[in-house]
Amino acid sequence: MTQDKLRWGIISTAAIGANHVIPAMLQSSRLSVDAIASRDAAKAEDAAKALGIPKSYGSYEALLADPEIDAIYNPLPNHLHVPVTIQALEAGKHVLCEKPIALDAKEAAQLIEARDRTGKQVAEAFMVRHHPQWLRAKALVDDGVLGRVRAIQTMFSYYNDDAANVRNMADIGGGALYDIGCYAILTSRFIFGREPVRVVSLIEVDPTFKTDRLASAIVDYGDGDRLVFTCATQLVPHQSVAIMGTKKSVTVEIPFNQDPTRPARLRIDDGGYIKGAAPQYEDLEPANQYMLQAEAFGEGVAKGSLLYPIEDAVKNMAVIDALFESARTGGWVSL
Ligand SMILES: NC(=O)c1ccc[n+]([C@@H]2O[C@H](COP(=O)([O-])OP(=O)(O)OC[C@H]3O[C@@H](n4cnc5c(N)ncnc54)[C@H](OP(=O)(O)O)[C@@H]3O)[C@@H](O)[C@H]2O)c1
Repeated sequence: MTQDKLRWGIISTAAIGANHVIPAMLQSSRLSVDAIASRDAAKAEDAAKALGIPKSYGSYEALLADPEIDAIYNPLPNHLHVPVTIQALEAGKHVLCEKPIALDAKEAAQLIEARDRTGKQVAEAFMVRHHPQWLRAKALVDDGVLGRVRAIQTMFSYYNDDAANVRNMADIGGGALYDIGCYAILTSRFIFGREPVRVVSLIEVDPTFKTDRLASAIVDYGDGDRLVFTCATQLVPHQSVAIMGTKKSVTVEIPFNQDPTRPARLRIDDGGYIKGAAPQYEDLEPANQYMLQAEAFGEGVAKGSLLYPIEDAVKNMAVIDALFESARTGGWVSL
């Protein structure tokens, strides 16, 4: 990068970009969002106007050819994450790509080779690990406040039965595990600080969409420590993560889609509430995890090494692969 600030280009008018990630990036003084591209020039122009982005392009290739762009944010549907990210790396751009990084770990691993060949940085956009609430939860665990962490219980669900939504299209990477199960895996790897050894899953497939709409799993971290989670695309919206130690638990109340204008809350409890004691709460200052993510990526690019290199994304993907394999075989799958 020759500029002080990373100059970003956005690939597509995806809802997550337009509604959350781009507005967050625009609040940062440490980067600039200079261009947006769409397959449709009018859509790109409208989005650029609405968001206050100076340049728009009617094709992704035109954006990638812009020499005044240093980094690309890629929020395309899941089947296009790896191919378009590789195109962008080959065009000389760094890339922050949405989760899940790929459709399987083998595809994801292509990004290691592409990064090494092009010398450009690439990362998976897991914004949650930049949120102060997760940094605090991790510090509580690492400082031993919970005792030994033995179990994490995670729930993540929403109701979406719109056939036109990318999440309900099996052939382009729809389904619950790809869309939100990935967060349960990511946050448990983050908290345990190691990789799981085996998994078992129970998955229900939507008869029309052919996507996994209700997926539950046990992810065994060895020594008896485990993540247990359920994720669903056709269930009441809900999210929570409970990290259970031998002495205390920490509950991350809104673990994934925390509103950036509100304080985040951790509940730290030793079980006293069962006998009527008030649980202890920690409120954290409001924070925009998408802005923090983009700034952290910029710092990593400037230093020449990312906090979460793409190898981490390949490991997360390998767990998803194993969960699908377990559903097919009906048993434990080793990692
Ligand atoms: N980190 C988070 O909090 C978060 C939240 C939601 C979603 N996501 C991720 O972000 C990605 C996009 O999700 P989204 O809900 O924003 O999707 P979306 O609104 O459907 O946007 C996807 C965009 O991709 C472009 N596109 C190119 N080829 C396409 C195709 N064959 N079918 C559909 N769209 C195509 C379209 O843009 P143009 O027409 O402008 O080219 C479309 O607007 C997914 O990978 C998802 O997992 C992340």
